[in-house]
Amino acid sequence: MLTIRTVGEMRAWPRTGTVGLVPTMGAFHAGHLRLIDAAREQNDHVVVWLFVNPAQFDEAADLAVYPRDEGRDAALAAAHGADVLFAPSADEVYPAGFATTVTVAGLTDTLEGAHRPGHFAGVATVVAKMLNMVGPDRAYFGAKDAQQVALVRRLVADLDIPAEVVALPTVREPDGLALSSRNVHLDAGERERAGALSRGLRQAAASGERDAAALEAIVRSALAQARVEPEYVALVSPDDFSPLAAVNGRPALLAVAARVGTVRLIDNTEVSP
Ligand code: PAJ
Repeated sequence: MLTIRTVGEMRAWPRTGTVGLVPTMGAFHAGHLRLIDAAREQNDHVVVWLFVNPAQFDEAADLAVYPRDEGRDAALAAAHGADVLFAPSADEVYPAGFATTVTVAGLTDTLEGAHRPGHFAGVATVVAKMLNMVGPDRAYFGAKDAQQVALVRRLVADLDIPAEVVALPTVREPDGLALSSRNVHLDAGERERAGALSRGLRQAAASGERDAAALEAIVRSALAQARVEPEYVALVSPDDFSPLAAVNGRPALLAVAARVGTVRLIDNTEVSP
């Protein structure tokens, strides 16, 4: 596996077939590796993007403690068949004079966007840049970050970027907790309480309820039992994250965000009609 640091080298890299791009901020867990495996199965070449993007962190403390271990990530990417680890520096991604920001109206400002000011503008900008730098045929994203998937689909369509966006299901711990690079910051008690997010979502999805208020109440009650205070619980359209009053006709998304200790967790589930 080759490690590439510059846009010039990435563009000059010789390709002989389709390219799958897996965008990441590193600290790989089984969720990231699932994306790399899928890219490996579906493309001739696999490029793994590794960049802890300062522009999408709304809290300096979160950026400061974000786990980083490029050596470990490089070994895992290679073991899962990546051809290239594209790990540029911040100066390479945001050179002097950088002045352009990509925002996706609506999506940038609701739920995650509303609670993390600037976050989605940072994501949209770096994703647009990496798609231009790499020029993949397919780009792989996790459903855990469902609003990010909706944002990327919108921006790829709106900016005529010739890449297919592939979304893969959330990889979970045995108790249901969605894998996240930030889970390492949970202590034992917090780790136990964190299970309430996926438990609440599971109970709501299995309840047969279709009404947004009823579904949200089931999640809130599971969280309350674990003394977890949600930032939001919301039934939304998977396409544009607009709020829904009820599940009607097509699958909806039930999304939750909550802080457990210092760690901010998100999760979501599909609720079928
Ligand atoms: P990061 O948080 O490293 O996640 C990289 C990819 O892994 C994202 O598409 C995310 O949805 C996916 N992922 C995370 N946890 C997962 C899980 N438990 N199961 C399946 N997939 C999971 O998301 C980002 O980085 C950044 O915003 C990025 C897109 C790289 C832009 O900087």
